[in-house]
Parts: sequence; structure tokens; C-alpha cells
Amino acid sequence: MSENLQEVVAKILKYSEQFVLELKSANTKAQVLDLKAKYVGKDGLVTVIMKGLKSATVEEKREIGKKSNECKDQIEQMSKNALEELEHQEINRTLEENWIDISFRDSIRSKAACTSGYHPVTMIQREVEDIFSSMGFDILDGPYLEDDYHNFEALNIPKDHPARDMQDTFWFKDMTHLLRTHTSTIQVRGMEKYTPPFKFVGPGKVFRCERTDASHEFVFHQIEGMMVDKDISVANLIYFLKILLSEIFKKDVEVRLRPGFFPFVEPGFEMDIKCLICGGKGCAVCKYGGWVELVPCGLVHPNVLKYGKIDTSIYKGFAFGLGLDRLVMMKYAIDDIRLIHAGDLRFISQFASI
Ligand code: DAH
Repeated sequence: MSENLQEVVAKILKYSEQFVLELKSANTKAQVLDLKAKYVGKDGLVTVIMKGLKSATVEEKREIGKKSNECKDQIEQMSKNALEELEHQEINRTLEENWIDISFRDSIRSKAACTSGYHPVTMIQREVEDIFSSMGFDILDGPYLEDDYHNFEALNIPKDHPARDMQDTFWFKDMTHLLRTHTSTIQVRGMEKYTPPFKFVGPGKVFRCERTDASHEFVFHQIEGMMVDKDISVANLIYFLKILLSEIFKKDVEVRLRPGFFPFVEPGFEMDIKCLICGGKGCAVCKYGGWVELVPCGLVHPNVLKYGKIDTSIYKGFAFGLGLDRLVMMKYAIDDIRLIHAGDLRFISQFASI
């Protein structure tokens, strides 16, 4: 052996310290692997020491072998730790760079799985609003909670008038406030807002304290219409309603006008349409008569115009109140109004893509 034992052991210790120093500046896994190979690879600095021990004594070989194995183990262990640490850092970096909000991704997925859409009543309401606004009508809103004046009195239904019994009312305890029983309240509010000539429609929910069946609900939807001008006649009323119905049903709909009694119109009518469910043959929806009452209407009673501070010697008006739920039933051939409001998604979601 050309070097003495002390010198070889010192060399091994030096390599070991050198490795620790160099490892500090190894920033990638490749650099760590290179460094490891430099010391303990096939021709590494530590490895070759053992190979050059041919002329050493058995004692020397044992001593140096022990030291170089310790050094090798240490280098291997430190390389392993450094590689693990780098791997860890890499994963954290990737997570930060490719950050994903799982809840966001889930919400996209649920949107895709369950396509959203409007309730059929909302869709028909918007359709009716669009048709009327394209003909120059304004769109008005009114409160659900009303008073006796707007729901009855100003509509020519004084206290003790038998017509009050036609509409079963949800009264508040004070007996002067109520949940509006019809959107005709919006006529009164419209006359407070505008001076003639004017025309508007007013959609919304209405409430009746009554039993439900295939064609009655205690909360349902109407859209009120009112037009006041100088020469208004029944012909104007029929004209606008026929345009509405042919636009909604996308075909000419057969209609008929019957006399109808409502205190706020004179004359009053019921506009019926030929039942679109059975084609007029008779079914549960048309109560086997072949016709469905769709639009009660008439010429505004002069008393109502007077309540609205409108000069009846100059102006006349027409009004109508259309049941939106019934319109949905006719349009989509639904034979029970309760289906519309039951909140059953299996029913509602059928309209999502219409
Ligand atoms: N408000 C009435 C109801 O709910 C419907 C109605 C009838 C409205 C005749 C009108 C009308 O505007 O002219 O029963």
C-alpha cells in the first residue's frame, strides 16, 4: 500500500465532509444523483479507494473497508434524504402552480348534469310580457298584500256586494288588509300612476282561500291588461287578445265570446278557446265541454274609471285578466294545475330545454 493507513482514513473523512458541503448547493434531483455517483458510484471517489487496496494487509483492509462503508452509508442516506426533500418541494410547487378549486369544479359538473331552466309559468309570463310590450304596453307590478280599497272598492265592489263572495279571500286579522285575490288591483294602481291615454299589463301571483282540484290552486298566476283611450271598443279588446293567443300557441286558435259578469266591466265577457288538450272532444280540463274559459274581459266600468280620476266623457277602456297557469296547461297539455306548483323537479325539469 503506497499511502499509510492514517492517510487513507483521513481521505475518506475528507470525502465525507466534502460531500456534505457540495450537497448543500445541489438544487435538483439530477445534481444530487450526480454528486452521489461522484463519490459512491461505480468509479466514485470512495469506491475506488477500496479498489486500490490490493497491497494492503488484511488488518488494513478491514479498517479501511469499515471506514469507507460508513462513509458510503452516510452518503447514500444523505442523498436519499435530499432526494425525498426535493421530491416534496416539487409536489408542493406543482400543487401551487396547478391550484384547483374542487368545489368549483364540482359546481360546473353539477350544472352540466342538471341543466337549469325557468319555471314554465315564468316562461309563459315573459312570453306574454314580450308580446304586449312589442305592442306598446307597459309592464306594471303590484303588491301581494293589498287593502280592501285596491282589491274591491275601487273596482266597483263595495262592502256587502255579493261579488265579494265570488272570491274567497285570505284576510288579515284587521279585516282591511288581504292577500290580493286577483291582479285587477294593478288596474287601480295603474290608474293612480298614469294619465290617459295608456296601456299596460301587470303579471303576478294571486291568492284564494279555496279547495284545490285539477283546475284550482290557492296560489296561482294572472296577468292583468288595461288600455284606456278615446275610442276604445270591444273590437280593440278582441284584436289584442287574438294576437296574444295566436302568438302563444303559434297557430290560429278558435275563440268564442260569452257574456260574463264582473263588477268592474260593463259589458263583461268570457273569452273561451277550443280545448287544445282534447281538440274540443271533451276532457277533464275542459270539463267535457270542449271549451276552456281563458280570458275574462270587458269594457272598464265607468265607476272604475271614476275611482281612477279619469274623465268618462272623454275616455273609455278595456281590461282583461288572463290565467297564466291555465295558459301553461293549454300550451303544454298538462291536465292538473297542481303539478305546476308541486315543486317536483321531475316535472319542472322537462321545461328546461324548451
Ligand atoms: N279579476 C277577475 C278574476 O280574477 C278576472 C277579470 C275579469 C279581470 C274581467 C278583468 C276583467 O280585467 O275585465 O276573477
